[in-house]
Amino acid sequence: MPTVLGTHGLTRRFDTPAGPLLVLAGLDLEVAAGEVVAITGPSGSGKSTLLHLLAGLDRPSAGEVWWGDLAVHALSAERVARARAGRVGLVFQHHHLLADLSAHENVTLPGRVAGRVDARRGDALLEAVGLTARRDARPRTLSGGERLRVAVARALYARPAVVLADEPTGSLDRASADAVVDALLAAVAADGAALVLVTHDARVAARADRRARLDGGRLVPEPSVDA
Ligand SMILES: Nc1ncnc2c1ncn2[C@@H]1O[C@H](COP(=O)(O)OP(=O)(O)OP(=O)(O)O)[C@@H](O)[C@H]1O
Ligand SMILES: [Mg+2]
Repeated sequence: MPTVLGTHGLTRRFDTPAGPLLVLAGLDLEVAAGEVVAITGPSGSGKSTLLHLLAGLDRPSAGEVWWGDLAVHALSAERVARARAGRVGLVFQHHHLLADLSAHENVTLPGRVAGRVDARRGDALLEAVGLTARRDARPRTLSGGERLRVAVARALYARPAVVLADEPTGSLDRASADAVVDALLAAVAADGAALVLVTHDARVAARADRRARLDGGRLVPEPSVDA
């Protein structure tokens, strides 16, 4: 399986009033095509820091981030932003749906930006996340879980090789969280996309192909649940 996402010696240090804070200390990660990886770890262990670096939204202090054979760490912020479309989909808790657009228009927004909307792709994705009946609804009339499912569909619209999700179910009750995770896993499986999923929830992590815990700025593999 080709590696669609990788890091080598990934290091991120922040300058704080109390001195430098080393959050990621030479972290190595390889994600294969279609693989679902759950990342766990206590609050403050660096999970969001890692996801921002994987998304190319932040720059490493040292080390490498690869999207397939593209050396993200070596690109300007502008080139990273251009390269991200079609390679990496993002699902964060603050999903920034546009209030004046319908669910379908939000899902197909990346197409609008690129100048060509694939309406059928939008419909297929809304069906994959169970929102066909809410196709024309505005975000404010959707529940929190439904909005997140729209964000999941939008993240997949451009057929990225990998989707990054940071605690997407954090603010939801169990039933809505399950519906979001179901939608996310079904959508990435249907597209053959890989998924890196940050979660506090052991039940969610158990559904991944592989689990790793952030500890001391590096990833420690977690045994599989049924081992
Ligand atoms: N821009 C920044 N400047 C200084 N310190 C930062 C910055 N961003 C993150 N940190 C610090 O880095 C550490 C890791 O933060 P991060 O947000 O990655 O943790 P997390 O594992 O996502 O936690 P949570 O589970 O609470 O979301 C924390 O100690 C945080 O205070
Ligand atoms: Mg976080």
